[in-house]
Amino acid sequence: MNIILLGPPGAGKGTQATRLVAERGMVQLSTGDMLRAAVAAGTPVGNKAKAVMEAGQLVSDEIVIGILSDRLDQPDVAGGFILDGFPRTVAQAEALDSLLAAKGMKLDHVIELSVDEDALVDRITGRYSCAKCGEGYHDRYKLPKAPGVCDVCGSAEFKRRPDDNEETVRTRMAEYRAKTAPILPYYEARGLVARVDGMADIGDVNRSIERILDSGG
Ligand code: AP5
Ligand code: ZN
Repeated sequence: MNIILLGPPGAGKGTQATRLVAERGMVQLSTGDMLRAAVAAGTPVGNKAKAVMEAGQLVSDEIVIGILSDRLDQPDVAGGFILDGFPRTVAQAEALDSLLAAKGMKLDHVIELSVDEDALVDRITGRYSCAKCGEGYHDRYKLPKAPGVCDVCGSAEFKRRPDDNEETVRTRMAEYRAKTAPILPYYEARGLVARVDGMADIGDVNRSIERILDSGG
């Protein structure tokens, strides 16, 4: 099963992808995570992407398609993947079709998390993650069970993303509306899109997605 999770910044793509990885053994392909890893490692791609990401704009199609193409060559994706944050432009959606066709793979579902944009600013500015294992938390919606200690690995060190401030979030949303929302009709025309209420609580969103994946259609 190969799916795309689509939705604006803070819609819950990463949160839901993590659940599906744990429940179904699917592989999460987050171009945001790949780019952040490249920035942290100081690779040529990372050095080009850093300022663009901090400004909340989209990294060039050429760079992002290149890293996704390399990732799709790895054998673990054959068991099913979740695209989180890709494609983000019509050109990326077209490139994905060519990449998948060349590998004999196909998309089963495009799941759109529909959300209220104003609530997203609150979600994103309250978000942080474990510095050691990456588990995601939120100042109000998802606190560690023991205060200040990661549920998964026990670390007491947490971090916030440099692009998670209100001004950058607004730019990221404008980018979504202008460049990413237009890919929906592209997939609707093929009957692949299912909509899920992303404002429901995390467990309910997860159950709605699971139902779509189990529907076989
Ligand atoms: P990326 O890393 O993809 O960020 P994004 O799309 O802005 O998405 P986020 O990670 O902010 O949100 P999310 O939907 O995963 O929400 P989350 O689950 O964390 O991209 C970052 C940058 O990289 C881009 O701006 C761009 O520069 C570049 N980039 C990446 N891919 C690219 C591409 N393909 N092309 C070009 N450039 C690219 O949830 C948010 C918070 O809300 C969390 O704290 C969570 O706990 C909480 N939460 C989640 N769901 C719920 C819920 N149902 N109820 C209450 N709280 C919830
Ligand atoms: Zn941890």
